[in-house]
Amino acid sequence: MDLTVNVSSLKFKNPLILSSGILGISVAFFKRISPYVGALTTKSIGKIERKGNPNPVVIPLDRYGLINSMGLPNPGINYFVNVIRETKKKVDASLIVSVFGFEEKEYVEVAGKAEEAGADAVELNLSCPHTSGVHEFSQDKRLAYETVKNVKEKLKIPVFAKLSPNVTDITEIGAACEKAGADGLTAINTVKSMYIDVWMKKPVFQNIYGGLSGPAIHPLAVRCVYDLYKTVSIPIIGVGGVIDWTGAVEFILAGARAVGIGTGVYLKGLEVFRNVKNGIEKYMETEGFQRVEEMIGYAHKQ
Ligand SMILES: Cc1cc2nc3c(=O)[nH]c(=O)nc-3n(C[C@H](O)[C@H](O)[C@H](O)COP(=O)(O)O)c2cc1C
Repeated sequence: MDLTVNVSSLKFKNPLILSSGILGISVAFFKRISPYVGALTTKSIGKIERKGNPNPVVIPLDRYGLINSMGLPNPGINYFVNVIRETKKKVDASLIVSVFGFEEKEYVEVAGKAEEAGADAVELNLSCPHTSGVHEFSQDKRLAYETVKNVKEKLKIPVFAKLSPNVTDITEIGAACEKAGADGLTAINTVKSMYIDVWMKKPVFQNIYGGLSGPAIHPLAVRCVYDLYKTVSIPIIGVGGVIDWTGAVEFILAGARAVGIGTGVYLKGLEVFRNVKNGIEKYMETEGFQRVEEMIGYAHKQ
């Protein structure tokens, strides 16, 4: 069974990716997860250190997943370059550095430093729904286009654009990113949402809004990947609500070349990667697929 997939110029040993924001800050965790995944995505990194939003920042929802309003806490790129260098020495998976900015030039600067430090690719987080000033990059096709284009002009490594489901038409933004030269699209980031504590009688997040992730958003994410596959020719990384192999296979059939797992790690533990990988292999055996590449976009054929 051939699980390898090509995502732009990168070759992944299997289609699984650790998504941005979940354990994506420490060399030790990257090292532990790397045998099971094709790629690791870091927490989103900005130009300078950010503490993020005040607590509480994560609310677990029974069965559905999580709402988080972290507000992009991160140590800043000047510190993080050492993590990138160290991780590269220790892992057997591609390293995708997620970057964000409040201005286009910040994306360019941070992405440039990530490349210099040895990142295999960058993912532009255009779409964090609870950080005002960042979410906007995914809401306007012209802004998304300009940001991707400016980063592409500077970098040699692949540039992926991470899209928001919180738009009228995700394909319009995806097409703009492709036109700007993006080497791939990651879909989706969390769904803008909120949580009201009935005893406090008010929203729990100081920031009011959070991002919903986990099983509740999976069907929505599959729809986004399916529609993007019809619109663009660049690789798509499907993210949202994968907790078992069926969710991953569904994304691949919809058109994803690789599949990110975030909340699934919280709900199922680190073994989620091994279980999903084994499940994909069994499915391929049962259904007569030799290579994962044969399955990509298969649902469009019927
Ligand atoms: C606690 C938490 C933190 C996250 N932080 C980031 C982040 O820094 N950058 C980013 O692009 N996405 C971030 N995400 C979004 C995930 O990468 C992913 O797109 C989303 O959660 C949907 O996938 P999932 O259902 O598998 O978690 C975060 C998600 C969670 C739950």
